[in-house]
Amino acid sequence: MRIVILLVVNLFMINTITWPQSERNMPQKYEKLMNQAKAAAQAAAKKAQADPLRPVYHLTAAANWINDPNGPIFFNNEYHVFFQHNPYGPDWGNISWGHVVSRDLVYWKHLPVALIPEPGSYDKDGVFSGCCVIQNDIPTIIYTGVYPEVQCLARSYDNLRTWQKHNGNPVIPQRPRDDLEGFRDPFVWQEGNSWYMALGSGIKGQGGTVLLYKSADLEKWQYLHPLCVGFGKNWECPNFFPLGEKWALIVSPHGDVQYTIGEYRDYHFTPGEWRIMDYGGREGFYAPNCMLDRQGRRIMWGWISGGGSADYPWNGLLTLPRALTFHGNDRLGIAPLPELQQLRGRGWHYKNRIIKPDAANILDEVNGNCLEIIAEIEPGNAEQFGLEVLYSEEKQRGTRICFDNQNLRLSAAEAEGSFQLLPGETMLTLHIFIDKSVIEVYANERTCITIRVFPENDTYQGINLFSDGSQTQVRSLDIWEMGTIWKK
Ligand code: FRU
Repeated sequence: MRIVILLVVNLFMINTITWPQSERNMPQKYEKLMNQAKAAAQAAAKKAQADPLRPVYHLTAAANWINDPNGPIFFNNEYHVFFQHNPYGPDWGNISWGHVVSRDLVYWKHLPVALIPEPGSYDKDGVFSGCCVIQNDIPTIIYTGVYPEVQCLARSYDNLRTWQKHNGNPVIPQRPRDDLEGFRDPFVWQEGNSWYMALGSGIKGQGGTVLLYKSADLEKWQYLHPLCVGFGKNWECPNFFPLGEKWALIVSPHGDVQYTIGEYRDYHFTPGEWRIMDYGGREGFYAPNCMLDRQGRRIMWGWISGGGSADYPWNGLLTLPRALTFHGNDRLGIAPLPELQQLRGRGWHYKNRIIKPDAANILDEVNGNCLEIIAEIEPGNAEQFGLEVLYSEEKQRGTRICFDNQNLRLSAAEAEGSFQLLPGETMLTLHIFIDKSVIEVYANERTCITIRVFPENDTYQGINLFSDGSQTQVRSLDIWEMGTIWKK
């Protein structure tokens, strides 16, 4: 009888306690370090937030350094975004995972740091980039511990508030071959009953690559083969996901982030043409990460670097959430989320405005460095046209956002790349977000340019329209002041 009862109890335990109980208790030493990291970030927050050039409707850490967005995920009616973070200072180091949460992808709250490096362990030199998936209702982070680069798991049993590193870490303790350049930034998805992981790497003498792994339980991983090999030496932060019949691969090759839309069959990927995701370069847009939201939209954030100073301890922010769609012609559609309209305040609206060549066309009423602008412009015969934002009348200078109709280039300040209207498009629609020291430009919902601008004084808040060669007609121009995303 006793044996039967024991057996039943045992079976019950095996079925209900899927993960070791010890994972649920955070070791003391780790808790102390977590509290130190939390206190460091909090102590710097007031100073960081006093910076007049610190963006207010883009995601940033409460203070100090951030780089890549990590593991965005929707769970239990909340959106979570993590990011590479130094809680102790405004430079890269002590790499941990910072954390913000939202109910609607518009308004956000800072949460305490989620994961930190543990001295003496497999992630002593940093908790590098990774992703988050939901396995049997348990949110699970898969990240790279360094050095050497190994892949690790952490799980949350309290709605993503605290994280327990897996006892069996690292789950991928070594590289599958010797000729690799880098071995990091897992991106995991589920197909049927199996999990797959794309891992950023490079094969010496061949080029940047994404390594493909497979697992039944996220704990034991089998290396399959390179999913794709291409340009450059090493690819960081791969993202790989279906888009209708095809799949998109996005990689960060230490320069412009590039994507391709191709065929994924029998666990092999054939890329199409590679395209630049954002002409802002590595400083403007790097190491993006994406998720599916509650409506099934594919949403991406990228890292924008820079900002802060000796007096204002912060550096880095994330782009606005960008919805990715299949645009046709092997291109991605890239557009800011429509719900960001909730941030709009006072507005100005113009219709059919002519921009005269060789003249100032300043919008007298508009003044601000926290604005959203939508300009619909008919490309006529002008050689170049566009807007100067953050424009100082006194200095007669601003940040030029320009379409060069002759050379078919689109630019924002120094950042630029090729752009032309596609068959069926009659109008250039520039959707521009200005947030103190960052500008994001979306052209025809498919081409982006993200740049930093640090005006020397607050006279740089106007808008001037320009057209070179001959006049241009602006069909409509809508401008709004924008509010903050931070909830108290
Ligand atoms: C990309 C990257 C990743 C790495 C992380 C470290 O910016 O270099 O490859 O995981 O940053 O912070």
